[in-house]
Amino acid sequence: MKEAFIVESVRTPGCRNKKGKFKDTRPEELLAYIMRACVDRAGLDPAHLEDIMCGCAFPEGEQGLNIGRIAGQMAGFPDSVSGVTVNRFCASGLEGVTMANAHIKMGWSDVTLGAGVESMSFVPMGGHTPRPHAEYAAKDPAMYISMGITAENVAQRYNVTREEMDKFAMLSHAKAKQARDTGLFTEIVPTPAYEFKKTENNTYEKTHFMVEHDDGIRDETTMEGLAKLNSPFKAGGGVTAGNSSQTTDGAAATLIASEDAAKRLNLTPMGRIVGYAVAGCKSDEMGVGPKYAIPKVLKQTGLTIQDLDIIELNEAFASQAIHCMKELNIWGTDLMARVNIHGGAIALGHPLGCTGSKLTATCLANLKEVKGRYGLVSMCIGGGMGAACIFERI
Ligand SMILES: CC(C)(COP(=O)(O)OP(=O)(O)OC[C@H]1O[C@@H](n2cnc3c(N)ncnc32)[C@H](O)[C@@H]1OP(=O)(O)O)[C@@H](O)C(=O)NCCC(=O)NCCS
Repeated sequence: MKEAFIVESVRTPGCRNKKGKFKDTRPEELLAYIMRACVDRAGLDPAHLEDIMCGCAFPEGEQGLNIGRIAGQMAGFPDSVSGVTVNRFCASGLEGVTMANAHIKMGWSDVTLGAGVESMSFVPMGGHTPRPHAEYAAKDPAMYISMGITAENVAQRYNVTREEMDKFAMLSHAKAKQARDTGLFTEIVPTPAYEFKKTENNTYEKTHFMVEHDDGIRDETTMEGLAKLNSPFKAGGGVTAGNSSQTTDGAAATLIASEDAAKRLNLTPMGRIVGYAVAGCKSDEMGVGPKYAIPKVLKQTGLTIQDLDIIELNEAFASQAIHCMKELNIWGTDLMARVNIHGGAIALGHPLGCTGSKLTATCLANLKEVKGRYGLVSMCIGGGMGAACIFERI
């Protein structure tokens, strides 16, 4: 197999669904912009780019048809740059990056982009017209239940307390605030956005502006404030808006080249993928997925959890992240200092199909910051799955 190198990896800020700065900016534009920025930052002439593999969890409406191809054309890439859209729900962006990597390793392409996008402002979770299979849903309703219910199930079945969840959420915001204020989100590319404002004569005016930061970080998060929130998912439950991931808009992209192409095109390797694993689990507790996927990728690569300098464990919900960390002997150990060092999805948001791609950029930036070697990106996935990918910094 050929060697594949990551030569650039970037993301847009993550902005709050319907309340945030990207609420009116179309997802194709976010994706086109970040892909173009990725290619330009690497110093690549787009004529050498061959294919785009883009994750999207609800590829319909404004992010439908084949956004992987459409956004490539909107980015100004030549007609020769093909594109595909892939869906593994919350791991879609990671699937995009790993597919782009696999095509290089197989020798099927020389230069590819792995990407991810989701505008939860334009397309809600579940899509606009969910149509579960009636007979199958009667037999297996868990396949279609709200992700929040699965998070409540994890908290209840594995005794994750409300205090543990709220403390974890508070820390996520505190780390994110600190990283934003000290300029540590080096993987973010300031991104143009627009909004439509109603004018006095009842027409709409389009105003343009730049977005530099994630806008879901709540600087004033306290345990008292979090404790006041009720569960929107279950009467008396402990999973709240404060300790769940935020629904978010964003896009991210990672440029990958074969060793030959990197040399020929003067691209500087920053990292590589050393292993990727996906595992299935029960759908009614989909949040436990990482506890199966992480050992699987460690076995595949011959590494141990101790070898990981950075662990980006998606905070879909505090309950599931905490349970997985307990099962993997991370919780309460020194390894905690390597987990989500600049906060996670509770503070920074979880733009479903973008997340794996976004965490790739974050993981590589954080590895560079701590001068580490191996970094992990892992997340749970709706329907009952987990994914885990190990990156090596070069
Ligand atoms: C839990 C959920 C339903 C909450 O949705 P929401 O009500 O739109 O959430 P918001 O972030 O707007 O927060 C609602 C309110 O909670 C309170 N709140 C949220 N975070 C808070 C914090 N850190 N401290 C104090 N209060 C907080 C605020 O009052 C906030 O209202 P405001 O924005 O007007 O200040 C939604 O975030 C969700 O579904 N998350 C999970 C997404 C998911 O399932 N992803 C897939 C995973 S597999």
